[in-house]
Amino acid sequence: MFVFSEHVNLKKERLMCGIVGYTGSREASPILIGGLRRLEYRGYDSAGLALLGEDGDMQVYKAVGKVANLEDLIKDKNLSSGTGIAHTRWATHGAPSTINSHPHQSQSGRFAIVHNGIIENYAVIRKRLMGMGYTFRSETDTEVLVQLLEYMVTNRGITDTVEAVRATLKEVIGAYAICILDRTRPGEIILAKQSSPLVVGVGEGNSEFFVGSDASPIVEYTKEVIYLEDAQIARIVPGQPISITTIENRCVQPHVQHLEMSIGSLEKGGYDHFMLKEIFEQPQVLRDCMRGRVLPSRHSIVLSALSSHSEVLTHAGRFIIISCGTSWHAGLIGKQLIENFCDTPVEVEYASEFRYRNPVIRKDDVVIAISQSGETADTLAAMQLAKEKGAFLFGIVNVIGSSIARTATTGIYTHVGPEVGVASTKAFTGQLTVLSMFALALGHLKGTITDGFYHEAVDELYHIPDKMEKVLEEDARIADMAKQFTYARNFLYLGRGYNYPLAMEGALKLKEISYIHAEGYPAAEMKHGPIALIDADMPVVFVATQRHIYDKAISNIQEVKSRKGKVYAIVFEGDENVSKVADFAIKVPVTSDFLSPIVSTVPLQLLAYHVAVNKGLNVDMPRNLAKSVTVE
Ligand code: M6R
Repeated sequence: MFVFSEHVNLKKERLMCGIVGYTGSREASPILIGGLRRLEYRGYDSAGLALLGEDGDMQVYKAVGKVANLEDLIKDKNLSSGTGIAHTRWATHGAPSTINSHPHQSQSGRFAIVHNGIIENYAVIRKRLMGMGYTFRSETDTEVLVQLLEYMVTNRGITDTVEAVRATLKEVIGAYAICILDRTRPGEIILAKQSSPLVVGVGEGNSEFFVGSDASPIVEYTKEVIYLEDAQIARIVPGQPISITTIENRCVQPHVQHLEMSIGSLEKGGYDHFMLKEIFEQPQVLRDCMRGRVLPSRHSIVLSALSSHSEVLTHAGRFIIISCGTSWHAGLIGKQLIENFCDTPVEVEYASEFRYRNPVIRKDDVVIAISQSGETADTLAAMQLAKEKGAFLFGIVNVIGSSIARTATTGIYTHVGPEVGVASTKAFTGQLTVLSMFALALGHLKGTITDGFYHEAVDELYHIPDKMEKVLEEDARIADMAKQFTYARNFLYLGRGYNYPLAMEGALKLKEISYIHAEGYPAAEMKHGPIALIDADMPVVFVATQRHIYDKAISNIQEVKSRKGKVYAIVFEGDENVSKVADFAIKVPVTSDFLSPIVSTVPLQLLAYHVAVNKGLNVDMPRNLAKSVTVE
């Protein structure tokens, strides 16, 4: 369930890096490398680790590029150590380089740190420390943390490491999740968090501890985890209970949670790429998403967030959806669903725009934040702004316990499992499923849709996964078609109504993994400009599954064809007319218009996937992108 948290400070931007830590009786380095691999999706321009031996000997290794480079670097080294911290970086302060990679060490080499976040006042601190003779090696903001820590110990004489960390953090402004090793304290790791997530996995009887910037590096070892809250400092030592205090030195009782996430859900499961696995698992994860919520025997939908907040939601004067990227496209479809079924106006905004204007929020506004990761910085900041202005916050989130989930007053988890591929696929269809459930259930509660329509729609929604399975059978044909598009330089995606946001989503999928320029347009707008681009080299993907505008779709396709454009159409089974004019047609099972985007998105995902594979690109980790966009 969503948990309201007062402590999430959303004003600070965070860095898209991954953190892993381990202390216990096993060899730390394989655990750290394995964990970094799982976190590589967060950022991947360099990686590094620090190991602390029982005698206080510290070894630090760093490599530019993927985690595999770090693995290569350490493979012949003697790394026997049960305590270590590691990091995979996505550069913001200072170029990707070995020097700028984490871990960073203090001047004397006593402390090593890995950090996810941004220290906003780093320049001032750095100047001050340099004035006192401290030498900096990197261009990063992170290095000030570790040098300031050393200053607290040597210049201020603070002997206890946790106290020195506390004094350090009191001087910094910014966001951080940090892990620190101290050569004088073998076996110990100090952790702290502010606005960046940090999770501790607890081994049997506190015999060992695992640390991650999310739970994915931890779940193969333990399911018992503690999510640190903002302004907390923790100390982990094998054989002792975790000790947590706040920056203000108040003791905190650890709250251990049991995770349901399985390791299988993090593996590729026989597929060549996570993206393909995630496309193919959509029917199953959508069944999971609907389990216990869509009740076929009663032809109804039960959503606890709706039951417990029915007053606010049924009386909402307006919904404002805030999100980014794919989640924003889901929001645009959500707008049509909610307006059609609930008769309540909906605005959809890029979170990044919303947060930097002065949006008018009325007291009966409900803000819906949509996010796969639950960590997108712009969405978090937009929520914070909406909260300050008195809006009721509702979340549609995939990652359980994430910052957005904790910030929302209530909401609905998509429950599609971990999504690793940078290109969002199952998270999108999960969001559409949740939005459909929400709009139908709310419309029924408000009486803005009839019982008959509601019951039929619920039954149809329940069977959507079966229809997706049929579309997935078309994979080989789509792969074949993709061969003809692989060398196109531009693509146009067109659709109307519910299919317009889908056209934008199809274009986003293609551009982010195949680096081909693509644009999604409302089909009727084509003649107001984009038609000038159409020639024999311009493939046009047309999603033509909206019944009431079917004839108009045919006219639009003919306009493209008469300018020699190549048309790739997605149509319903039984279609004759579009299939005749299009160069290629993929037929998807017939569904109601409002549910068709869930089904029609599958061929768009597969097309983008196969084009990228044909081009030999890294589908799961496209250049310049990261899975969680935790910077502005
Ligand atoms: O985790 P979120 O849903 O908040 O992420 C929003 C976008 O960053 C994300 O959808 C991005 O556009 C994906 N790479 C799209 O495939």
